[in-house]
Amino acid sequence: MNATYAETYRAAAADPEGFWLAAARGIEWEQAPTRAVDDRRAPLYRWFPDGRLNVCANALDRHVAAGRGDAAALVYDSAMTDDSRTYTYSELLDEVAGFAGVLAGLGVGAGDRVLLYLPMIPAAPIAMLACARLGAVHSVVFGGFAPKELAARIDDAEPDVVVTASGGIEPNRRVEYLPAVAEALEMSTHAVGDVVVFEREGFEAGLGDVPPTARWHSAALLMADAEPADPVSMAATDPLYILYTSGTTGSPKGVVRDGGSAVALDWSMKNVYGVGPGQTMFTASDVGWVVGHSYIVYAPLIAGAATVLYEGKPVGTPDAGAFWRVVEQHGVDVMFTAPTALRAIRKQDPQLEQLAKHRTTTLRRLFVAGERLDPDTYEWSRDGLAVPVIDNWWQTETGWPIAANPAGLELLPLKAGSPTVPVPGYRVEILDPLGEPVPAGGEGNIAIRLPLPPGTLSSLWGDDQRFVDSYLSQFPGYYATGDSGYLDEDGYLFVMGRTDDVINVSGHRLSTGAIEEVLGGHPAVAECAVIGVADALKGQLPRGFVVLKQGVDAGAEETEAELVARVREHIGPVADFRSVTVVEALPKTRSGKILRKTMRQIADGSDYAVPSTVEDASVVDALVPLLRPA
Ligand code: COA
Ligand code: AMP
Repeated sequence: MNATYAETYRAAAADPEGFWLAAARGIEWEQAPTRAVDDRRAPLYRWFPDGRLNVCANALDRHVAAGRGDAAALVYDSAMTDDSRTYTYSELLDEVAGFAGVLAGLGVGAGDRVLLYLPMIPAAPIAMLACARLGAVHSVVFGGFAPKELAARIDDAEPDVVVTASGGIEPNRRVEYLPAVAEALEMSTHAVGDVVVFEREGFEAGLGDVPPTARWHSAALLMADAEPADPVSMAATDPLYILYTSGTTGSPKGVVRDGGSAVALDWSMKNVYGVGPGQTMFTASDVGWVVGHSYIVYAPLIAGAATVLYEGKPVGTPDAGAFWRVVEQHGVDVMFTAPTALRAIRKQDPQLEQLAKHRTTTLRRLFVAGERLDPDTYEWSRDGLAVPVIDNWWQTETGWPIAANPAGLELLPLKAGSPTVPVPGYRVEILDPLGEPVPAGGEGNIAIRLPLPPGTLSSLWGDDQRFVDSYLSQFPGYYATGDSGYLDEDGYLFVMGRTDDVINVSGHRLSTGAIEEVLGGHPAVAECAVIGVADALKGQLPRGFVVLKQGVDAGAEETEAELVARVREHIGPVADFRSVTVVEALPKTRSGKILRKTMRQIADGSDYAVPSTVEDASVVDALVPLLRPA
């Protein structure tokens, strides 16, 4: 293994204090930290306990002050509306300071929460950065979630203000946000004071149609009178944002990230992604996901690069050349997307004929994350694009890569199926169920020795105990990632899948337990199981199986349709839940545990094992024809 990565990895492991204090020099501090890790409340660690900074000032003001105000900061490109606009650092700073003034005018201050429900328009990064400027804590909710999920997040984060837009644009429909927000406000027990709306053309519901559950305002009108707000000095340990993600139960986990995470993001831009001032990064994700938080908004701007905010899809807007058009039009140096997007392009344009129509010579690297990069898609994209295609593995919780090919440091040889090596700062180990180390090549639980590096979650919102119970208790001294995998003889990590009920649909993380809760709430359902089955395009898709209560009148088909509609209504279209089957019985052990793993193995066409504790093996046999792909 090449020295540069190895040396850096060793330095971070041997002296985390020195390593991260040195990395912290990449950030502008109002009070530079004198200490890196604070272990007084272990296993809850904090980073840079005496440092003070403002993350927005690091993303904008300092670049303007350094004379780079005319450099491109945010490139908005909408394949949905054919709009394109580039904001320089000075222009973006003006917008953000103005919107921070709007929020301040509504009484938002340091520590207050602001919920953002926004599509991929400039208002999204502007509102995020405006919160950061005031020290307010933002929580962005992805547009594909239903009002009920929005309400759950409102009740957990207790925001004073919601910032939204008229709606989002999907290829087949307009997504009306105002009725969704109004419904969520109605459902939530927490009372939101103000809703600020970025108005867009082409939507049915406007400010004249909303119920008086809160004070609703036009963002444009408020902006016209706003006094620009200055950045507020915050402790590095103060929360920057809350981002909800699927856990093992229906209630989402509010991952909290602090302002000191700027250090890790800055470090990752230099050493993992290799992107700096004067370069353009195009991360094709959504601001509602962690990839969007870190690599559409914060990291590229902290690094002084230009970032592309793309409203569109990889295919169908208008064709499978959409990404390559963006690369050409904006001179993109580095791209980042999810494997699903590549599979979608491959399905429509296997020979990459669309690529040939665009001049993409600026593109140096393509990073992918969010789900496993299957070797087939890896080889196809590497050969077709003729640039390194770099898998990186991480989670909402960690906020930046745990394993990657550290291209900014040095590009290590790639191995198909592996996101390469643990990133400096992460001490990755493979543990058996008893917490004992598994030798190289053996599969087990992927765990990270504590403390996690800076930039990773500091806790779950308002619930340190749930943080400890969910991640830090299974293997004392470690963070349990919930993924299984192995390290090979060369120290390369292979991530094989989740050990819990989390599934990954088009790079979106979903909990089968949460879908089961929704199905189980239907009056006709006696019991149910949801499993993630392998899908050639989306990675996994959820499939439900339900047993109806005795004496239910409705036919199976009718109930199945109701259940599909119910999941869409309760969780949202993002669940992509389209398949549910009424069955006579579910396979169980004698103690009543549903054999979901066996069901998944049958559905995926792999060898399956029926445990000796099965209650009735004939139930498994009866399911095989339903589960096995035709
Ligand atoms: N707001 C509202 N609805 C949304 C939405 C949003 N932001 N994003 C997706 N949806 C809806 C879609 O309209 C669709 O609804 P429908 O049931 O009415 O058709 C449903 O959610 C499922 O959407 P999607 O997962 O996008 O599937 P698709 O078949 O429409 O498109 C892909 C397939 C591969 C093109 C798409 O999944 C994709 O772009 N994947 C990349 C994912 C990605 O970037 N993930 C980020 C993680 S790093
Ligand atoms: P999320 O929190 O939505 O980013 O989802 C995190 C989960 O997605 C991880 O725990 C993995 O199961 C999966 N995942 C993300 N990136 C990768 C990757 N590069 N390889 C394999 N699995 C991945």
